[in-house]
Amino acid sequence: MGRAKKAVLAYSGGVDTSVCIPYLMQEWGVEEVITFAADLGQGDELEPIRQKALDSGASQSIVGDLIEPFITEFAFPAIRANALYEGRYPLSTALARPLIARRLVEIAREVGADAVAHGCTGKGNDQVRFDVAIGALAPDLKVLTPAREWGMSREETIAYGERCGIPSPVSKKSPYSIDLNLLGRSIEAGPLEDPNVEPPEEIYAMTVSVDAAPAAPQIVEIGFEQGNPVSFDGVRLDPVSLIRQANALAGGHGFGRLDMVENRVVGIKSREIYETPGLLLLIKAHQELESLTLAADVLRTKRQLEQQWADLVYQGLWYGPLKEALDGFIERTQQSVNGTVRIKLHKGNATVVGRSSATNSLYVPTMATYDAGDQFDHRASEGFIYVWGLPTRLWAASRRR
Ligand code: ARG
Repeated sequence: MGRAKKAVLAYSGGVDTSVCIPYLMQEWGVEEVITFAADLGQGDELEPIRQKALDSGASQSIVGDLIEPFITEFAFPAIRANALYEGRYPLSTALARPLIARRLVEIAREVGADAVAHGCTGKGNDQVRFDVAIGALAPDLKVLTPAREWGMSREETIAYGERCGIPSPVSKKSPYSIDLNLLGRSIEAGPLEDPNVEPPEEIYAMTVSVDAAPAAPQIVEIGFEQGNPVSFDGVRLDPVSLIRQANALAGGHGFGRLDMVENRVVGIKSREIYETPGLLLLIKAHQELESLTLAADVLRTKRQLEQQWADLVYQGLWYGPLKEALDGFIERTQQSVNGTVRIKLHKGNATVVGRSSATNSLYVPTMATYDAGDQFDHRASEGFIYVWGLPTRLWAASRRR
């Protein structure tokens, strides 16, 4: 790897990414480090983070609000895809990575950098997502990954930082490793590394416990247009406000926690706790509306492709050809996903209690009813079943011979 002159570093304000700044300059001879901290709705104060990068030796410290594109270009497609990795995790962290990578590359172009850098370790998924995305978007840029190579323990990292004037974390650091944004929180490490240990209540911030959830149920009606959520109880909301509202509603009723052992890209199993109340609520509602508005064969095919969509996003292939091809299919299906879903929130549960579509419902009452209005021709089934069952009868007969 030839030397980089100017690098744009993905920056969170934590010890590791802060230490990356002097490390890149002192150990790897990078002349100038420019940091980028993304606002993804995580609720951090960004001004202290911006200042901390400068104090740690960055020549320029950029903070950027990416909340709107995060929701419209990443979260909403995931809702349309009902994306749940291994059937459960709605990709709250994974979805942010290709967006951050895209912005890093844009900034590198703006400032004339020849490298981008990130502080991911060598055993996570995020390194895969960043590296693959950057390689697709800007193959000419070097990708510098100090934390993957420096081999320092946490104590050594803190000590390295202190020698460079980076203050060590003031409070006794929490044992957890947390990633958060507007879509959710992921919590790992510390006592959670034992997959047999129940997560302590203190780790949660976006969801209340079932005990603390209100005794009274609440029914909300979520409106969708072309597969995108657009309203709560008939009130239209912009995408960002809608996600915030979904988080508050679902989280307030204790819905949206996950405790799972998942399979990382690099081959290890890890125990992960997530809270993603709004995203899980919206995916649940969206799936339900599709059951009303998509034809059976389209629905079944889509359910299979959704798994592939979730896999590839998890695995860092956002900018790849399968993603683009699947998006074409999904987009076409979503033209008819218009209507509303009513969900009852109560004590950690979100239960669908109704669905309707004025324009695209494929539910035909005169076909479905058992009452007098029934227009389904019952006698037509006889011939259908004769043909349908023919291969089975022929096979069964041959077996009897
Ligand atoms: N396991 C989750 C994922 O791969 C969460 C990763 C959290 N990232 C982090 N740097 N703490 O999407």
